Amino acid sequence: MPTALVTGASAGLGDGFARALAKEGQDLILTARRVDRLEALATKLRAAHGVAVHVFAADLARPGATEELLADVAAAGLSIDLLVNNAGYGARGGFAELDRDEQLGIVDVNCRALVALAHGVLPQMIARGSGGILNVASTAAFQPGPWMAVYYASKAFVLSFSEALHEEVRDKGVRVSALCPGPTRTEFADRAGMKDLASFDAVWADADAVVRDGLAAVRANSAVKVSGTINTLMADSVRFLPRILARKVTGTIQKRRG
Ligand SMILES: NC(=O)c1ccc[n+]([C@@H]2O[C@H](COP(=O)([O-])OP(=O)(O)OC[C@H]3O[C@@H](n4cnc5c(N)ncnc54)[C@H](OP(=O)(O)O)[C@@H]3O)[C@@H](O)[C@H]2O)c1
Repeated sequence: MPTALVTGASAGLGDGFARALAKEGQDLILTARRVDRLEALATKLRAAHGVAVHVFAADLARPGATEELLADVAAAGLSIDLLVNNAGYGARGGFAELDRDEQLGIVDVNCRALVALAHGVLPQMIARGSGGILNVASTAAFQPGPWMAVYYASKAFVLSFSEALHEEVRDKGVRVSALCPGPTRTEFADRAGMKDLASFDAVWADADAVVRDGLAAVRANSAVKVSGTINTLMADSVRFLPRILARKVTGTIQKRRG
């Protein structure tokens, strides 16, 4: 059965994607590490919407995890018609002081697993002439981010990769979009060690609005969707700023955020 795979469905935007898709009657595969949360969500969505919801636990930072996940999906007789590559995290602080493995994990989850899953589902989508991949990037993708260097670089990777893939498969009936949210109310900021600033607080977006933008983007096959008017203006304006200024401003904001 055609099914949507949502990574990072145990919290925040992933939980929102799962809820929105289930409401539309879409069968789901949910994955993350916190399987108790996934099971609780799956139970709710089955009862509320009558959809099939499959839960597979995976630590996407672990080597081999994406291969095991795709093998589990195939063994269950499922085929993926929408991949929401959403799982991700960041870490705020000086690169040299932050834990090495935590930062390598950002590359593994935000980039490596995202690429591996896209590569796992694309051949079937191309063969069917239909399907979609929504990669969750960030407004962090548009400039370097001192004091959160690996996270910003990971999202620049996601944006560039998604745009390139979009061009490669657009004539094959397969849609690929990058969603770029700005600051959004989820567990992300706590996990990343970003304490709130009043000015930062004012621009928090609601996760449901970001989810709506993402699903609309992949349905319309928009290569890139920046969520929110202020974020769109900021992402556009960065293109006209000297790169030195963009990175200095971003670094100043990130440094003060602690
Ligand atoms: N919130 C924001 O301000 C913001 C802004 C721009 C972009 N984003 C992006 O949006 C996406 C979703 O983040 P969110 O805001 O919803 O954050 P969140 O509430 O912290 O949720 C992150 C999700 O990623 C999963 N995840 C993290 N590490 C994982 C791992 N090793 N293996 C498998 N799953 C893992 C978590 O599941 P488990 O912990 O259960 O494994 C969780 O379900 C991320 O890619 C993030 O970079 C967020």
